[in-house]
Amino acid sequence: MCNKETIVGHPLSLKLLMLFFSYSFVLLLPFASALVPTTSPPVIEKRAQCQATLNNALIVARRLQSHYFNAATGQYTGGSLWTDANTVEDLHNLMLATGTDEFSTIGETSFIGRAALNSGTNWQNILGGSNDDAGWIVLALWKIADYKASRGKDNSAYLNSASKIYDIISGQWDDAICGGGVWWSTAHTYKNAITNELYLLLSASGYLRNGNTNYLNNAKKTWAWLSKSGMRNSAGLYNDGLTDSCQNNGQTTWTYNQGVIASGLAALSVATGDKSLLTQAEITLDATIARLSTNNILRESCDNAVGGGSVCNQDQQLFKGLWTKHLQYYLDMANDSARTAKYASYLASQTSAVFHFGTSASNDVGSVWYAPDQGGSIFTPKTSASGLAAHVAAAKYGTC
Ligand SMILES: *[C@@H]1O[C@H](CO)[C@@H](O)[C@H](O)[C@H]1NC(C)=O
Repeated sequence: MCNKETIVGHPLSLKLLMLFFSYSFVLLLPFASALVPTTSPPVIEKRAQCQATLNNALIVARRLQSHYFNAATGQYTGGSLWTDANTVEDLHNLMLATGTDEFSTIGETSFIGRAALNSGTNWQNILGGSNDDAGWIVLALWKIADYKASRGKDNSAYLNSASKIYDIISGQWDDAICGGGVWWSTAHTYKNAITNELYLLLSASGYLRNGNTNYLNNAKKTWAWLSKSGMRNSAGLYNDGLTDSCQNNGQTTWTYNQGVIASGLAALSVATGDKSLLTQAEITLDATIARLSTNNILRESCDNAVGGGSVCNQDQQLFKGLWTKHLQYYLDMANDSARTAKYASYLASQTSAVFHFGTSASNDVGSVWYAPDQGGSIFTPKTSASGLAAHVAAAKYGTC
């Protein structure tokens, strides 16, 4: 069942009030200023939730926590730094969207949350030189911070750490090679799509949070560079990265690269008012649907329902969920009912596939969504987190 939508700061009663407002302009005018949200960033955190999908999300999240989460270390058994960060982000995304507090202590018990709460933490050591991992951690810390703020709690430690990590990533931009871009790692061997897509998103949405024009300038600089980098191919999809001679290296068009560019462009669009950035985002989103789907369901090139074939590695197992999550973030920021409607049925297909084809009897979600598992689906904390993200995005923006 779908409930009526509520927008952050605008509970249903206020939405109705706003409808009424158009008929009673003079009468309600004195209340208008009270309707303006005061929280930043200007993102829709709460809206229509498809209750059935939300229930599936909660079931997967509970199983993920009971099966894989190690409360002593704050890590997931079989997880990794950046995939754990995304899982923690997903749980907070779920709580923000639904109003539930079921996972309220995960922020401070998670490995990255503990590190953020410890003022002596050396983030460079934790990041191990990985600039894309750093970007994912900033996103997770911001989501924890948003959740804490929404519940009236202090979030400064999470924001402070996010800001420190952002500065570390910014220091990895280099104009000398390929005319710009953030290096994938501090080894300075590779400039790739994901690291720079994340930097675009962090810079633009960071500006929406803190108003710091350095962030905005970084976002503009990054899109100017990305859009000329040649990493988006003629089909509209981002390949993995650049060769040593700064050409598109033709490597795999992973699904996550097609999602994070969209959320980054939507954030820059909000920051600048330039709606053409949404058109750019949708070129890639639509190409994903057209070219990286089987049965209208996302399929990573390494996904194989039949056992014995190719296998997605530990990182790749999370990618499809990242595409859905960043489509959610895209729609959050685009804040446009026509755009939301455009992607609703595709998101509904994903959550349905995760439920019908991906989920085991014990409520773990496997890697393969596009067809029933015939022995090729892998079950890990990453694949469950990926499925969770698909449910959460579809609960918010899918048809019900
Ligand atoms: C979304 O758009 C509506 C209508 O244009 C506007 O009233 C509302 O403030 C916007 N919400 C956000 C979070 O930007």
